[in-house]
This record gives sequence, structure tokens and C-alpha cells, in this order.
Amino acid sequence: MRIEFILNDQPVSVECSGSETLLSVLREHFGLLGVKEGCGVGECGACTVLVDERAVNACLMAVGKVRGRRVLTIEGLAKEGKLHPIQEAFVDFSAVQCGFCTPGMIMAAFALLKENPAPSRQEVIEGLAGNLCRCTGYHDIIRAVQKAAAQLRKG
Ligand code: FES
Ligand code: FES
Repeated sequence: MRIEFILNDQPVSVECSGSETLLSVLREHFGLLGVKEGCGVGECGACTVLVDERAVNACLMAVGKVRGRRVLTIEGLAKEGKLHPIQEAFVDFSAVQCGFCTPGMIMAAFALLKENPAPSRQEVIEGLAGNLCRCTGYHDIIRAVQKAAAQLRKG
């Protein structure tokens, strides 16, 4: 079937089975390899993208469900060659090691800060609870998200 939706602010259309996962369509049809496949069963958050501004696990969502909706991936965050403040903060705080969890972590943080622009440390921990990182110990990630939140509030 043909599915049309908005991907990173551009209207797109893809011919595929509606039951194919959003993860596989983003990676295989659109080449968006920032959307990672970790567990494939909704437990690691590596595949996190936004659908209508809410974080979802792309490995669990059938692509048929995004028809007519807005999908945002890590590739859509930087504007005019400039990193998004959350991306900048991850670099500044060395919150990236192997990088496998990073796109999903940043998208989850993006969704969190849309909903709660001034999260406490505990709220950041809870907001990112669905995203696993095997490298960093989370401390620098949490600091980066709080720094980005402060930066975004300043505008
Ligand atoms: S790959 Fe989707 S949650 Fe792990
Ligand atoms: S930086 Fe390696 S899994 Fe998070």
C-alpha cells in the first residue's frame, strides 16, 4: 500500500506493507540510519523517533499508523547545518561514547523538553527511563539534558 506522511518536515510517500515497522521503513526505504535497531522489541529505546511530537519506539510501530502524521528523526533536528542545542550539549558534556544509544536518547530528551522545559534531575531520569545506554553510566547524559533545557529556555 502507499503511505504518505511528513518526514523531517518534508512530505513523503512510500509503497510498502502497512504492517512493516516504522523502523525498517525509515532505515531501508529512506536511508535514515540514525534510527538504530537495538533490541527490536521495545526495550532499549535505540529506535526512538517522534510521531506528532511524542516519543515512540519505531520498532514497535507499524508504518501504516503514521499515515498523515508527522515523524521526526535525529536527522531532522539540526537546522541549516547547526546542531540542535540538545545535540550540542551531548557533545559538550561527553555524553556520547559508542554513540549507539545517542540518537534515541536525544529524541527522547527532545520529547521530554517539549513537554517539560525545566525538568528536575529526577524528571530527566524518569523521562529517559526507556532508553538504555551501555557505556556512559547516564550521569553525563542527564547533565547534558539539563544544560540543553536551560539553553532552550534562554532561546
Ligand atoms: S530497537 Fe526499538 S526499543 Fe530497542
Ligand atoms: S554511548 Fe554506547 S550505548 Fe550509550
